[in-house]
Amino acid sequence: MTRFFFVLLSLLLSSGLFAQSNRQENFNSDWRFLQADELQFRHVHVDDKQWKAVTLPHDWSILSDFGAEFPAGNAGGALPGGIAWYRKTFPIATADKGKHITIHFDGAYRYTEVWINGHYLGKHSNGYLSFSHELSSYLHYGGKPNVLAVRVDNSQQPNSRWYSGSGIYRDVVLSYKDVTHFIPEEVFVSTPLVSKDEGTVRVRASIANPANQKLTAAFSLIDDKGKVVAESKEKMQDAAIDAIFSVNNPKLWDVSSPNLYRLQMTLLTAQGKVLNRFEQRIGFRSIAFDVHKGFFLNGQQLKLKGVCLHHDLGALGAVFNKSAAKRQLLIMKDMGANAIRTAHNPPAPALLDLCDELGILVYNEAYDMWQKRKNKFDYHVDFKEHHVADLQAFVKRDRNHPAVIMWSIGNEIREQFDSTGTVLTKEMTAVVKALDDTRPVTAALTETNYEKNFIAQAEALDVLGFNYKFEDYDKLPKEFKGVPLIASETTSGLQTRGVYDALHDTIQFWPASSKDKFVTNGNPDFSVSAYDNVAAYWGTSHERAWLEVKKREFLGGIFVWTGFDYLGEPVPYPYPARSSYYGIVDLAGFPKDVYYMYQSEWTEKEVLHLLPHWNWKAGEMVDVWAYYNQADEVELFLNGKSLGKSQKTAERLHATWQVAFAPGELKVVKYRDGKAVQEQIRYTAGAASQLKAEVTHDDFVTGDKTDLYFVEVQLQDVDGHAVQHDDIELTFLSADNATIVGTDNGFQADLRSLSSPQRKTFKGKALAIVRLQDQTRAGSIRVKSKLGELTVSLLPKKTE
Ligand code: GAL
Repeated sequence: MTRFFFVLLSLLLSSGLFAQSNRQENFNSDWRFLQADELQFRHVHVDDKQWKAVTLPHDWSILSDFGAEFPAGNAGGALPGGIAWYRKTFPIATADKGKHITIHFDGAYRYTEVWINGHYLGKHSNGYLSFSHELSSYLHYGGKPNVLAVRVDNSQQPNSRWYSGSGIYRDVVLSYKDVTHFIPEEVFVSTPLVSKDEGTVRVRASIANPANQKLTAAFSLIDDKGKVVAESKEKMQDAAIDAIFSVNNPKLWDVSSPNLYRLQMTLLTAQGKVLNRFEQRIGFRSIAFDVHKGFFLNGQQLKLKGVCLHHDLGALGAVFNKSAAKRQLLIMKDMGANAIRTAHNPPAPALLDLCDELGILVYNEAYDMWQKRKNKFDYHVDFKEHHVADLQAFVKRDRNHPAVIMWSIGNEIREQFDSTGTVLTKEMTAVVKALDDTRPVTAALTETNYEKNFIAQAEALDVLGFNYKFEDYDKLPKEFKGVPLIASETTSGLQTRGVYDALHDTIQFWPASSKDKFVTNGNPDFSVSAYDNVAAYWGTSHERAWLEVKKREFLGGIFVWTGFDYLGEPVPYPYPARSSYYGIVDLAGFPKDVYYMYQSEWTEKEVLHLLPHWNWKAGEMVDVWAYYNQADEVELFLNGKSLGKSQKTAERLHATWQVAFAPGELKVVKYRDGKAVQEQIRYTAGAASQLKAEVTHDDFVTGDKTDLYFVEVQLQDVDGHAVQHDDIELTFLSADNATIVGTDNGFQADLRSLSSPQRKTFKGKALAIVRLQDQTRAGSIRVKSKLGELTVSLLPKKTE
């Protein structure tokens, strides 16, 4: 009887009667985790009950204390690697027999081996790329549990120039596909013609069609209101289709209105029976690069105002979280950034979804090295065997995102200096072009002499990116004739938020030259001044880099190193420094002052920002700076007395004064056409006497189950003035329905684990990252300190 039922069911499934659409199940919950390396854990019968219960995404490295002893070194974040196992037991419904059931990992670091019910499915070596395994033929259906065992090996260290994290650190989903189906990674949708009046959609797709049926593919384009705005039907030729149809008056996707459509794709039999549905989000936009005029979006010239971002999310480590990533992106967008560079690896797919939704252009990068290493155990060991397949998987995965505007095949690749670079560039460019003929291929280079640059000599790249070396910008168009250019990396300015210790306008280079590994005259407390006047010797101040790119129309844009501080690469210091100083925003998400320089240059907002704080020794001479825009001049007042007016100049993007400190009020006033239009005051603050806690940026919350809340704490004196000269110890306590996930204060040499609920404020600020256990109701945390106790309420985002 049961057997008969199965046969009938399979017949029905293959006839398509029950088939509807590919389905995906979030597979992040109910995993067991153990840091150990016993190969027997791959078997079905392992007692994993005592293992730690974890929810993915998960990064075991970030949970550790920092330490000098870890082989990743402080460049790798001063955190451990190692080997660990993840196991998950799950049922599969009988009704799903016959489907293609596949497990997808968005990313795991690093070598990841997977077993299902004891069957080995394979090993994946690229820690930043998504991968999947088909499970169907090894699964038990109905009652019997299935066991997935995953071994993640990040024991060979050092393998990265920055913090990698360890574990299954991105989402996992289980997908169920109909027998006959669109193969997701073979679906490529582009918009070859885009104008206000008409948009064309081109769909290239392959299908799995085991019964060799005669099929028709139908397409419906659906707008954000759910209205079908275009429809098309076409007969499949063999297992592939290449269809074009158009829509009138498409709402274009751009950085200010990222309009998206849903493309619904349906597979039908000759009798009109639906066999499979697949949905792809698309945006109508055109991109172009010009040798003289840089970048164009939808026919309009647009300077790429970009930042480089590494993949970690501060105190979360490598764990990808949508609300944390959204917070980062919105902080960047609010500053005026319209682009990011995913330095130097494929990002989480969900990051690209966010960029599509927020209107942020993406310079999508594949590799930091090819066969020549930068680190003993880095990807160079896998390059030969995997680089072509990895590049193909990367392009197939990301080519349907309107946000992605170019592919980078590498950053500062060593092969640019010898002829192997020419061969590999030709090879890899061809690999990308075979899968995507709509976007330029680029690389981030340092060699500015054509004769010596073997990557450029391949004459294969559509856009050349140059890192640093702004002194050479003017010679680039002559050296690399006829190729559009961008400043793929600039700046490498160094700053600790809230630290001001330089009393002059000259740039200091820390370290000073390639002779020094570390700065020789740095600050004993491992801080760096946040006036924009310290940079690594290969870099410049933020102002200088932007000025140099701004004045050259032929440069399509700038990608500042970096938007946020990141874990690892703490130039210019040795351990205990463990995270970078390069960010415009610190690791906790608090902007450094230079954030407002960008905002004044990159946005239409009214900007006025005065630095530094106003707590100094009596009589001490203090450099005072103001960033502003849309004004002729600004005037500084100390306790009501004018200290004079100051302006920006063609070569300086801030106003400046030298002031002998006296306590009180330091005020800056901005004048437009002689009228005061904006002012800002820094007060000499008294002792810390209260805490202000804000759950900032409610917009970051997405309404998803994975949402996190960012509680920003500011020390204040009795009058409510911000305190920056005093710091206190805080303890964040989970209270009602809330869990503390991590804490931070943005200081690069704070050695307390980022997963600790205790955190000392730094320059008056601290952050707690909180999860609501039940996302449908409110929760609260408490913040305890010597100043007393504070309750912070967290309200879930209302979902419509
Ligand atoms: C660049 C490199 C980046 C980062 C940066 C630090 O040369 O591409 O990954 O290391 O230097 O200044």
